[in-house]
Amino acid sequence: MIAQTSAPQATDIRSEQSADDAKIEALLEHAFGPGRFAKVSERVREFAEFRPDMSFCAWEGDRLVGSVRMWRIRIGDTPAIFLGPLAVEADQRKYGAGGVLVSRACAAAAAAGFPLVLLVGDLPYFSRFGFSNDPTAAVRLPGPVDQRRVLAWGATAPLAGPVTA
Ligand SMILES: CC(C)(COP(=O)(O)OP(=O)(O)OC[C@H]1O[C@@H](n2cnc3c(N)ncnc32)[C@H](O)[C@@H]1OP(=O)(O)O)[C@@H](O)C(=O)NCCC(=O)NCCS
Repeated sequence: MIAQTSAPQATDIRSEQSADDAKIEALLEHAFGPGRFAKVSERVREFAEFRPDMSFCAWEGDRLVGSVRMWRIRIGDTPAIFLGPLAVEADQRKYGAGGVLVSRACAAAAAAGFPLVLLVGDLPYFSRFGFSNDPTAAVRLPGPVDQRRVLAWGATAPLAGPVTA
């Protein structure tokens, strides 16, 4: 199970809607800048099917303050979900919104029949939700990556093979 954290009282977590797209792009630009398009995760998102049903936004009133997006992939022959990007506006960080977004997204993936979630990220942050790089040494992403940053949630055995659509 994933540890639950609590968002600030006023933060509302809702499923992503297509109308949210421009606000999410602005948030990602603030959080990552244009360099985000060079990341290996972006290569995955180019071929993977977007799953808005497991992707969530955090709102403070009309202001979008956080986003997590989820994508359908395979790792070798194993169906899985790729998580990312995850971002929270700088002035809204450390109130738990990021944790709530990760928890909601992983729970939605598991409920939809995908109990395995992969991402590229910082182990010191994602380990609190149960992500680990122990099972991912033989996972092959479509580009250069620090393999220690390839993290899985829900793996019951070592994972192996290329990440594909
Ligand atoms: C990572 C991020 C989404 C966390 O959002 P958040 O709402 O602040 O998350 P939470 O409130 O659930 O957790 C905050 C805690 O995580 C820690 N944390 C944040 N980023 C971390 C990281 N990269 N490594 C280790 N710890 C991290 C914070 O210091 C804070 O610690 P504390 O509880 O001891 O104060 C946010 O910092 C962000 O948008 N960062 C820029 C984009 C990014 O790096 N996204 C992740 C891509 S892998």
